[in-house]
Amino acid sequence: MLKVLIPKERAEGEARVAATPETVKRLVKEGLEVAIEQGAGEGSFLLDERYQAAGGRLITDLTAEWSTADAIFKVSPLGMSSALGKDEAALLKPGAVVISFLQPYRNLPMVKTLAAGKVTALAMELVPRITRAQSMDALSSQANIAGYKAVLLAASRLGKYFPMLMTAAGTIPSAKVVIMGAGVAGLQAVATAKRLGAVVWVSDVRPVVKEQVESLGGKFIDLPAQESGEGQGGYAKEMSKEFLARQQAIIKEHIASADAVITTALIPGKPAPRLLTAEMVQAMRPGSVVVDLAAEQGGNCELTVANQEVVQHRVTILGHTNLPSTMPHDASTLYARNVLELALLVFKGGKLALDLNDEIIKGVLLTHDGQITHGPTAAAVKAAP
Ligand code: NAI
Repeated sequence: MLKVLIPKERAEGEARVAATPETVKRLVKEGLEVAIEQGAGEGSFLLDERYQAAGGRLITDLTAEWSTADAIFKVSPLGMSSALGKDEAALLKPGAVVISFLQPYRNLPMVKTLAAGKVTALAMELVPRITRAQSMDALSSQANIAGYKAVLLAASRLGKYFPMLMTAAGTIPSAKVVIMGAGVAGLQAVATAKRLGAVVWVSDVRPVVKEQVESLGGKFIDLPAQESGEGQGGYAKEMSKEFLARQQAIIKEHIASADAVITTALIPGKPAPRLLTAEMVQAMRPGSVVVDLAAEQGGNCELTVANQEVVQHRVTILGHTNLPSTMPHDASTLYARNVLELALLVFKGGKLALDLNDEIIKGVLLTHDGQITHGPTAAAVKAAP
């Protein structure tokens, strides 16, 4: 029987887990053995007993299980493990399957080790954005959480109400929230800020999102039409310096009058576009808040410090890089379902059934049979010194 291992995540600040009792039950039903490290679900409030009741086998000797596992499901990329005392990627047996967020561009040595070790690595961030793969789309399930939580953080840091209130002591106007980037996280931020009663303004470089923003009750800030930001696969492309300068000139006034700014703008494989300069932050009202969801990719705001909350020019700037982990129960529940759906495509009837012609597998496969199968990552490895 093939053995799937679910280890406890050990990366700093990572409270999520790659399987829940619900998904373990389904994997067991599929004919797989599921070994789950003791305490793996603790950070997400999913206790060992529930995994056992679902048919999982609790394990404590991680090294032995790791090197004999046929598959490992994880949340964060492989690296040096404090529990194993070794490189997690190097300890996998040849032919083992890894399903995890792997951030290949940032972990080229890991990719090389996985390929050299003949590991079949499936990177959750490479799931194609096609209808059939929606249930496996972990970028979306986690971005949704980040967008929601960003608004709650902004509301909790702001010394003001979000909704308009008419009270006996007078009227409080609604807060103004500006959201930069209306992908999955941004649209959830629009919906959440609207539910809290704020007036929401949105900027994006892809004109198609205007309608989506307006259907959620947001107001779209029109940008110069000379250049569309629509890139490949529904993603944004990198805009010219001239365009970004024009965009800044247009949004400047909105930023200066905003109570909260939530930035979510990303371009796949590139550093986050700089949208808020120090000067723009300086022009904001005292006490206003910026939540920069692009902090991990360098930040949309010039003053963002990753993983820190800083105050500059009396504006609080939050640079969280893992907001989904701050809502671990639901983040794990959704992520584990995404992983399960992908796993059910890869394992059928308890056996490995990798269809290399399947569009989803083609997209998600990072390494296989000694090769780096994802073109852009293979090119990055080649170009690396
Ligand atoms: P993302 O995280 O790559 O980027 C976030 C947003 O930032 C995007 O809307 C992008 O246009 C915007 N952006 C980039 N540069 C900007 C700038 N200079 N100023 C303002 N905004 C800027 O995007 P995400 O959330 O991954 O979504 C990408 C696309 O994929 C969207 O169209 C989304 O609707 C689509 N999608 C499709 C799915 C499917 O069909 N299965 C599933 C999920 C998303």
